[in-house]
Amino acid sequence: MKKLFLSAACFILLGAGLYSQPKLTKDNIPLIVKAMTAEEKALFVVGVQFEKEPYAGKYLRGTGGVTYPIPRLGIPSIVMMDGPVGIRLYDYPTTCFPGGLLTAASWDRSVAFRIGQAIGEESIDMGNDVILAPGMNILRNPLNGRNFEYFSEDPVLTGLLAAAYVNGVQGAGVGTSAKHFAANNQETNRLDGDSRLDTRTLREIYTKAFELCVRDSDPWTVMASYNYLNGEYTQESYDLLQKILRDDFGYRGLVVTDWTGKRNTPKQLHAGSDLLMGGRPEQTEHILECLENGTLKMADLDRACTKLLELIVKTPAFKGNKPSLKPDLDSHTKLARELAADGMVLLKNDGTLPLQAARAALFGVHSYHIIHGGNGSARVSPPHLASLDEGLAAAGFSLNEDLRKLYKEYDSFISRNLDFNQKVKVLVGVPQKPELEISRKLIEETVKDNDLAVITIGRISGEARDRILDRDFLLQDAEIRLLRDVCDVYHSAGKKVVVVLNICGPVETASWKGLPDAILCAWLPGEEGGNAIADVLTGKANPSGRLPMTFPVNYFDAAGAENFPYNFVSDRPNESAAHPERRGMPMKDIAWTDYTEGIYVGYRYFCSKEKSVSYPFGYGLSYTSFDYSKASVKVKGNRIVATVTVTNNGSAAGKEATGFYVKAPLGTFNDKPSLELREFGKTGLLQPGESQTLTFTVPVRQLASFNSAGSRWETAKGTYEAFFGADATKPEARATFKLSSAKAYPVSRACEKRAGKEE
Ligand code: BGC
Repeated sequence: MKKLFLSAACFILLGAGLYSQPKLTKDNIPLIVKAMTAEEKALFVVGVQFEKEPYAGKYLRGTGGVTYPIPRLGIPSIVMMDGPVGIRLYDYPTTCFPGGLLTAASWDRSVAFRIGQAIGEESIDMGNDVILAPGMNILRNPLNGRNFEYFSEDPVLTGLLAAAYVNGVQGAGVGTSAKHFAANNQETNRLDGDSRLDTRTLREIYTKAFELCVRDSDPWTVMASYNYLNGEYTQESYDLLQKILRDDFGYRGLVVTDWTGKRNTPKQLHAGSDLLMGGRPEQTEHILECLENGTLKMADLDRACTKLLELIVKTPAFKGNKPSLKPDLDSHTKLARELAADGMVLLKNDGTLPLQAARAALFGVHSYHIIHGGNGSARVSPPHLASLDEGLAAAGFSLNEDLRKLYKEYDSFISRNLDFNQKVKVLVGVPQKPELEISRKLIEETVKDNDLAVITIGRISGEARDRILDRDFLLQDAEIRLLRDVCDVYHSAGKKVVVVLNICGPVETASWKGLPDAILCAWLPGEEGGNAIADVLTGKANPSGRLPMTFPVNYFDAAGAENFPYNFVSDRPNESAAHPERRGMPMKDIAWTDYTEGIYVGYRYFCSKEKSVSYPFGYGLSYTSFDYSKASVKVKGNRIVATVTVTNNGSAAGKEATGFYVKAPLGTFNDKPSLELREFGKTGLLQPGESQTLTFTVPVRQLASFNSAGSRWETAKGTYEAFFGADATKPEARATFKLSSAKAYPVSRACEKRAGKEE
């Protein structure tokens, strides 16, 4: 009897064990993967179509992506929202922070960190688990439609600022997605264009920023781009995702594909793509088919599931976040204003700025309607947009009412009548507004009652379409006439003219920059743009931004400028050239793009070839001046420690951004750029007479160039010339240091990094 009772108890316990479901915890991921059926795995690694049943109405409109939930195993779905400058939602206002270019122009990690932190906080409030940012592609060409989302033409400035942003977001308990990996440098034919470049260029320029970002921040996800890289989709490239990203950079997080439809699913999963977004049912079917016919190994699918579970257990959704849907918009509005002023770049000032409150005539449609951000997935709808007229009025300026009325009427007329393709509205968004033609007579009428004129030149761009040369990089005829006439009329009356550039990327400046008295580059400054511009124009904030990219004299001055679709206009931007040959389109720069300039991107080219530019990389003025002293560079083991003292020797409080540039000896290479940015930093707000010593620590390894033949990084023996200062053409202080031996670094350092032994 006793025996019978015991075996019945065993049977019950065993049965319970067999039928009870394990629930996901952060410690039982292998068990959960084992417990998943093949079908569940195939559903799990493909995003769900959350606008359709059974999900319809459950997620906020504007959400970027959602993963497949498996309640029986305690796996919730997680939510991914765009994008770099704030949370993109259609029905809820969120804060629109300044764009990537402005952030980069601050040369200040704390600006990127604080933006990231605030977006992280808003993510918790809005139920977001992963923000699809930072966008960190290199500004290869001034006309890339998404440049405004990205940081710089330099990988060090890009990578270290992206890391700060990631640390800000992830510190708030929310994931990031460093995107778009890699060599995704144009929007034309973005789904299928082939970026063709050599290995050294890939390593030193186009993957370098991701390497630094992974080193300094460990983003929870990396987004594999849409494009081909040397004939293979990045999402399907084992060499890129496994060998470079995971083995070499030591990346341990999840790789999500950019929002693609069905591609070679087993190849994607084998290469290291873990989550296929936005997700289509045919991708799940394909996975099951390929498992069946042996073209997909279960091990690849299990790896993807493991990575996704590792991500999920870190997310707010898994931890039971209950979104309030009430982000702290008030305090973030203040933050957006403060930080916007940190990255505005004063390009010219003959002493006109800072301004006293005065009577001002504001010209240009964007003086009354600021371009706060660009189009596409990065487009955020803030609760309020501060325009420049509003900002100046609040700062005590009295503005010409006739002009205000005229421009406002024009703006609403043009907004109603602008012709753009409705089908791609969400992506292409707000089109560029043609400038209003203003007669010289009208300008003359305004001069009597005003003390100065302000002209705003605006440029907007976005996802799925690149900018073009004519009437975009080059100014429109109406803009040129406006500049000439306003400067002429106001100068004849002894009055000043200030130009504000409200731009998504460089415009031509060389031909007209002599005309106005002052030029402020305000970029796409976010929702508080008008107030922040007013703060800088009046000296409430001293501008301390420095250009994160070169403004060339002519578009074609840059190496490789001809290898870009600089005048390609399409009526169907997103899928414009999926099959260029079928649509009778040119193939070069659309089906493929040759990066013939190699590593000579931006200032690396202009400085090495001593070519003149309109405004160099790192350029920017201040209302005060700074002196550099006590420059020193020491080699300490496997680190370079560089210090310099910066003193405010002017009469206004200000911050100074500076770079640490290095010219390396050639070693085994035939050529190296004449200088490369290796670190950067910014002082705090220095009062007149006050000094601060900046210290830059750079691993020796980061001075290496990539030897493609030997597939290794190499530092050369010999004397290295270094200089301090942000402007690449204007060393403020110099120093040299020596490396006593050459060194080669193996590409795979994932293990060293994990063991904390990285050199
Ligand atoms: C963009 C990504 C974005 C994704 C989700 C894609 O079209 O390239 O940057 O994160 O959409 O919205």
